Amino acid sequence: MADVPPGVKGMNDILAPEVSKWQFLEQQARDVLEAFAYHELRTPVLEYTPLFVRSVGEVTDVVEKQMYTFDDRDGRSVSLRPEGTASAVRAYVENAQWNKEPITRWYYIGPMFRHERAQRGRLRQFYQVGAEVFGSGEPSMDAEMIAMLVEMLVRFGLDGSAIEVSVNSLGEPEEREAYRNKLVEYFSGHRDKLDDDSRRRLETNPLRILDSKNPDVIAVAAGAPKLIDELNESSRARFARVRALLGALGVKHEIDPGLVRGLDYYTGTIFEIKTKAGELGAQNTVAGGGRYDRLVSSLGGQNTPAIGFALGIERALLAIPDSAESYDPGLAVFFAPMDAAALDFALPIAHTLRRKGIRIEIEHNPRPGKFGKSMARASKLRARAAIIIGSNEIASGKLTVKDLANGTQSEVAVADLESKIRQLLD
Ligand code: HAM
Repeated sequence: MADVPPGVKGMNDILAPEVSKWQFLEQQARDVLEAFAYHELRTPVLEYTPLFVRSVGEVTDVVEKQMYTFDDRDGRSVSLRPEGTASAVRAYVENAQWNKEPITRWYYIGPMFRHERAQRGRLRQFYQVGAEVFGSGEPSMDAEMIAMLVEMLVRFGLDGSAIEVSVNSLGEPEEREAYRNKLVEYFSGHRDKLDDDSRRRLETNPLRILDSKNPDVIAVAAGAPKLIDELNESSRARFARVRALLGALGVKHEIDPGLVRGLDYYTGTIFEIKTKAGELGAQNTVAGGGRYDRLVSSLGGQNTPAIGFALGIERALLAIPDSAESYDPGLAVFFAPMDAAALDFALPIAHTLRRKGIRIEIEHNPRPGKFGKSMARASKLRARAAIIIGSNEIASGKLTVKDLANGTQSEVAVADLESKIRQLLD
């Protein structure tokens, strides 16, 4: 037999019971986002490449090294989205959304694609829950968003004390310009300790050197001037207010002056959340985001302040302590007909119950002498009860209900079956 071509490296299938944990997490995320009055936004996974180059930034790891970019059959360069903010901004601008809603709150849940070195918590197709707010530049919005993100992680089951929130401010681009010169001066003095990437970035985008993953560069970067020290009065006041409001909302956080984020569009408040919980290992940043007040206008829209974040679903799943099995809903009942006639009798009964939302599996190949196998399957599926149907049951119109928790059996008329099952499930 020919071998099946393997799935693409760094891209996973998600099977039961694992998928139940995903569904749980996604539902919790939706519940929180809906409570904060966000609407879901669905955008294509493919965009024309310049969208990402112009938003994420030409001189970033994501655009330089990680995008899945190819020409489509019309010869236009397209890329699988490496993140969701660029598409949200494109949708915002193309729909002239500022004319419709003074403040637009959007969220999305879906796959993103980055050609990274695959390892635990780092995939090439990974999923994000993301949120973006357009039209408010208020510091209170920054605090509200970070508090919402923390609430989401708590709802997933993370212990609040294991959630580490770091914040920083990048200030305005004008403030960054002055800082950029200081950085160039500093790193030029340590040129010999920089790698090729960082030396190149010294000319093109020196801030990115601060985001290097190379330990030697990290060591040099530790001594670099801090952007937060260069901020002007109004940026400082703004940042102080964000922090005060975070305090009022009960969000513990630290300032990390080295935090710069890996994407170019940020201005003002930026943040990341790490956790030591679970099995995350080195990839322990579960979420990140910040303000990007200039991006909408730089992509042709009206001047619109904006802020957002994205949370990595795979990483959040690794941080949640409970096993996937514990999220699997299990069966309500397993229908175990004894023979073909019993199957015909049972099918319409099961159908009626299923239409009322009761989760049922039925044995489609009942064979005399194989009844034990049916019962083994019922307990493997963690059914609450088995419904046994043979010739006696057909004759009397009463089905045998076996409580799989304690092994007791009772006879139940077809008309009473639903209430009996609900009583067992209670
Ligand atoms: P990001 O920091 O690039 O931000 O990604 C956000 C989160 O996605 C990360 O914290 C991580 O949990 C997850 N993630 C990123 N890359 C991978 C990967 N290769 N494998 C698994 N998980 C990964 C953004 O994407 C911004 N769009 C966030 C944002 C929204 N900023 C403003 N609005």
